[in-house]
Amino acid sequence: MKAFVYQGPGKFALEERKKPEMSAPTDAIVRVTKTTICGTDLHILKGDVPTCKPGRVLGHEGVGIIDSVGAGVQAFKVGNRVLISCITACGKCDYCRKGMFSHCTTGGWILGNTIDGCQAEYVRIPYADTSLYPIPDGVDEEALVMLSDILPTGFECGVLNGRVKPGDTVAIVGSGPIGLAALLTAQFYSPARIIMIDLDDNRLQVAKRFGATDTVNSADGKAIEAVMALTDGVGVDTAIEAVGIPATFELCEGLIAPGGTIANIGVHGTKVELHLERLWDRNITITTRLVDTVSTPMLLNLLKSQKIDAKLLITHHFKLAKILEAYETFRHAAKTSALKVIIES
Ligand SMILES: NC(=O)c1ccc[n+]([C@@H]2O[C@H](COP(=O)([O-])OP(=O)(O)OC[C@H]3O[C@@H](n4cnc5c(N)ncnc54)[C@H](O)[C@@H]3O)[C@@H](O)[C@H]2O)c1
Ligand SMILES: [Zn+2]
Ligand SMILES: [Zn+2]
Repeated sequence: MKAFVYQGPGKFALEERKKPEMSAPTDAIVRVTKTTICGTDLHILKGDVPTCKPGRVLGHEGVGIIDSVGAGVQAFKVGNRVLISCITACGKCDYCRKGMFSHCTTGGWILGNTIDGCQAEYVRIPYADTSLYPIPDGVDEEALVMLSDILPTGFECGVLNGRVKPGDTVAIVGSGPIGLAALLTAQFYSPARIIMIDLDDNRLQVAKRFGATDTVNSADGKAIEAVMALTDGVGVDTAIEAVGIPATFELCEGLIAPGGTIANIGVHGTKVELHLERLWDRNITITTRLVDTVSTPMLLNLLKSQKIDAKLLITHHFKLAKILEAYETFRHAAKTSALKVIIES
C-alpha cells in the first residue's frame, strides 16, 4: 500500500509499505477513505517531536471502513464506517477511567507518532472499541474528519481549559485550523468579543467569516498595543495559544488581564520564557493539555444537528498519490489559502 513516511528532520516520502496486520485481539484494521494533515505533522517533519522516529507513517485524523477486526472487538464489524480518533484509549487504565485518554498508559497520542498512522491506504487501530466512533447515517464524512483532532483540540485545550464564559473577551493567537476550531467552539459560550491574531491576512479574513469580532495582524510586532487599545487597556479574560512557538506564547503573557487564563494548545519544540516577574501578581492561570477527545460524542451530536459547520475548514482535496502536493499546499498556506486539506484514497 501507499503511505506517507517521515524519514528524519526535513525528509519524507510517499513509500510502498506492507498492509498493516493485527497485533492484538482488540485491534481493527481500517481502510482509510479520507485523511488530512495537521500542524503537528509539520512539527514532526521539522524534527520538533522526538517521540516520532524516522520510518513512521504519519497521520492521526481520518474516516474509513473496517477491513478486519480482532476477536476481542465487540463494537464494530467488517464494513462499518468509522471515525478515527487521534487519541487511542484502552478504556481501562487509571487515566482512561478519569477521562484523560490522552495519557492512556498504553495509548494516548500514538497514531502517526509512536505507531504507524493513517496517511496510508490502511491503518491498524489498537483498542478499536474505545478509539473509533461509528459514523451516524446522513453525516457528511468530510466534515467528520474535522472531529478526529482539530475540533476536540480547539474546544478542550482552548475553550474548556481557557474557561470561556458568556460576556468574556477572548484572544486566539493563531488562525490556523486549530485556532479556527477554537473560534467556532468558543461561540458555544457566547463570549462578547473574540480577537483573532495571525500574520496572515487571508486567515484573518476567514476568522471574520467564522465569527471573530476583531482581527489583529501581528506582523508589525504591535499586537499587544492593538489588543490593549481594543480592551480599554485591560487585556483579555482568555488567551488561547494556537501556534506553538515562543513568540506567540509570550504574546499571550502580554495580553492576559488580571484573573485571566492562558490556555496553551500549540506543540512546542523549544524552551519558552515565562515572565513571572510581570505575571506573579496577576492572579492568572496557565493551562496545558494534550487533547483527550472526551468531547467527540458531544461534537458529533452538534455536527449531526448542523449546529456547527465543520466543512468550512476544508479548502483543498487531493488523492493519496498526490500527498506530497497536499503537504506543499498545507505548508504554504499564506500563498495557497489552505486550511484543512482532504486526502482521499
Ligand atoms: N495540544 C494538542 O493536543 C494539539 C493537537 C493538535 C494540534 N496542536 C498544535 O496546535 C498548533 C496549531 O495547529 P494548526 O494545525 O492550526 O497549525 P498551522 O501551522 O496551520 O497554523 C498556525 C497559525 O499560526 C500563525 N502564526 C505563525 N507564527 C505566528 C506569529 N508569530 N504570530 C501570530 N500568528 C502566527 C500562522 O500564520 C498560522 O495561521 C500547532 O502547534 C499544533 O501542533 C496541539
Ligand atoms: Zn493533530
Ligand atoms: Zn487507558
